[in-house]
Amino acid sequence: MKYTLGFIGTGNMGGAVLRAALKAVEPQKAVISNRTAEKSGALASELGCAAGTNSEAAGSRFVFLGVKPQMMGSMLEGIKDVLSQRKEHFVLVTMAAGLTMERIQEMAGGKYPVIRIMPNTPVSVGMGMTLCCASAGVTDKDIAEFKDIMRYSGRIDFIEEKLIDAASALSGCGPAFVYMFIEALSDGAVECGLSRAKAMEYTCQTLIGSASLALESGMHPGALKDAVCSPGGSTIAGVHALEKNGFRNAAMDCVKAAYEKTKELGK
Ligand SMILES: NC(=O)c1ccc[n+]([C@@H]2O[C@H](COP(=O)([O-])OP(=O)(O)OC[C@H]3O[C@@H](n4cnc5c(N)ncnc54)[C@H](OP(=O)(O)O)[C@@H]3O)[C@@H](O)[C@H]2O)c1
Repeated sequence: MKYTLGFIGTGNMGGAVLRAALKAVEPQKAVISNRTAEKSGALASELGCAAGTNSEAAGSRFVFLGVKPQMMGSMLEGIKDVLSQRKEHFVLVTMAAGLTMERIQEMAGGKYPVIRIMPNTPVSVGMGMTLCCASAGVTDKDIAEFKDIMRYSGRIDFIEEKLIDAASALSGCGPAFVYMFIEALSDGAVECGLSRAKAMEYTCQTLIGSASLALESGMHPGALKDAVCSPGGSTIAGVHALEKNGFRNAAMDCVKAAYEKTKELGK
C-alpha cells in the first residue's frame, strides 16, 4: 500500500491530529485531501506529505475522516466505490462527534473496520487526550499500529463506545472550560497588579503542574487541595470564595450540559 495515512478534511481537528501523526510516520507515507484544495496543498507543502484527492486518501492503510459530522454522509458517498473495491485490510478512523461507528459503516456502504476517536485540540502540542473505541474487524495489530501512529499526540485511551459521549463532554469540550478558568484566574491576578503576560504564564504553569501532580501521585484532588491549605491561611480563604460562588456546582453543571447537548446532536 502506497500510503499509511490518508486524511480527508484537514481543518482544525484533522490538521491537529495530522501534525501529531507526522511526528511518528514519515511524511512521504501520508496523503491529505480537503474540500478547499488550497488548504491541504499548503499544509502538504509545509509538512512534506502528498496532497491528493479524497479517493487517493481513501486508498490508505488508515483513512482519517476529519470532516464535520453533517458533511460525513456526502463525503463518504463520494469514496464509497473506492472503499468497496479495496482488497487489502484498512481502517477508517472517524473523529466526528456524535456519529457512531455503525452509522459511519452505513454511510461508507460496508462493515469496514472503524476506529472512532475523540481527540482534543491540545493534540497539536502533543498533550492531547484522545478517547478511542474500535468496531468488530479492528485487529490487535491495527490497534498497536494506531497507537504507534498517535504516540506523539498525548494520552490515548480505548473505552466502550457507550461512554464516549460522557468522556468527550469532559476532554473534547474541556479545553474551552479550562481556558475560561485560565482567563478568570489571570483576570484576578491582573486586578491584583500582575501584568497580563505574567498572569497568563503563572496560571498556565500552575494548571499544568497541578494536573501533572494529580496524575502522577494518583492522590484524590481533595487531599492535594488540603495539603495546600494551611490553617487560617490565604489559600483556604480563596477556596472559600470559590465555594461561596458555586464553583464546583458550575463545573459539574458544565460537563452535564455538554453531555446532554452531545447526546442530542448525535440523534
Ligand atoms: N474542534 C474540536 O475541538 C474537535 C474535537 C473533537 C472532534 N472534532 C471533530 O473533528 C471534525 C472536524 O471538526 P473541525 O473543528 O476540525 O472542523 P473544520 O475546521 O471545519 O474542518 C473540517 C474540514 O473538512 C473539510 N471538508 C468538508 N467537506 C469535505 C469533503 N467533502 N471532502 C474533503 N474535505 C471536506 C473542510 O474543508 P473547507 O476548508 O473547504 O471548509 C474543513 O477543512 C468534526 O467531525 C468534529 O466533530 C472536533
